[in-house]
Amino acid sequence: MRRIEGYVIVSADGMIADGNGEMPDFIRNAADQRFFQAGLDRAAVVVHGRHSHEGGPRAARRKRLILTRQVAAIAPDPSHANALLWNPAGATLEQALEQLGVTDGTIAVIGGPEVFSLFLPLYDAFHLSRAANAKIPGGLPVFTEVGPNATPEDVLARRGFRPGARRDLDAAAGVSLVTWER
Ligand SMILES: NC(=O)c1ccc[n+]([C@@H]2O[C@H](COP(=O)([O-])OP(=O)(O)OC[C@H]3O[C@@H](n4cnc5c(N)ncnc54)[C@H](OP(=O)(O)O)[C@@H]3O)[C@@H](O)[C@H]2O)c1
Repeated sequence: MRRIEGYVIVSADGMIADGNGEMPDFIRNAADQRFFQAGLDRAAVVVHGRHSHEGGPRAARRKRLILTRQVAAIAPDPSHANALLWNPAGATLEQALEQLGVTDGTIAVIGGPEVFSLFLPLYDAFHLSRAANAKIPGGLPVFTEVGPNATPEDVLARRGFRPGARRDLDAAAGVSLVTWER
């Protein structure tokens, strides 16, 4: 069985980082981190762009695919023993997973915007956390389509996802989670 799940925390205005590509501390939240890290612990592989990494004490154990155009197709990552560098223009996801030794289980996609967008046709579930008290004007949106005329929820709904029940992860901090599924 193979599943593809996305994980993100966005600001009230749908942003994941500021205009310099830095994720501000005010959208990080401990309860969301626990949910996120537990999800990654259950995953067979973590997938992200070259500037994103989940961090945390268990990160080094996880298998990962790091998207980059610096390789033609698939190459070892000299700085992460359990990782491969992957350019989707030169090799399919199946080829990259096979080379990494991943045959089944959950593929956890963790950003950034281009990577979240690339996987939109493929997610079984997208875990959208929101820090409702934070805004990041001029920031990086979760999906490239997000902007004045489209929220992250609009993008997911247009692609045929339906929202599950809203869960308060940290009510005092205004952080909640909705899992969208197809
Ligand atoms: N709030 C959240 O939940 C969340 C989630 C994820 C990330 N973030 C934050 O967002 C920021 C990173 O954003 P970012 O836009 O720099 O994202 P990123 O996806 O981590 O890195 C972008 C790089 O990934 C590679 N890449 C992306 N799409 C590719 C594709 N289709 N094919 C080949 N390579 C591809 C390229 O690497 P090369 O330049 O090597 O070609 C590109 O420059 C960080 O601050 C991170 O902490 C926040």
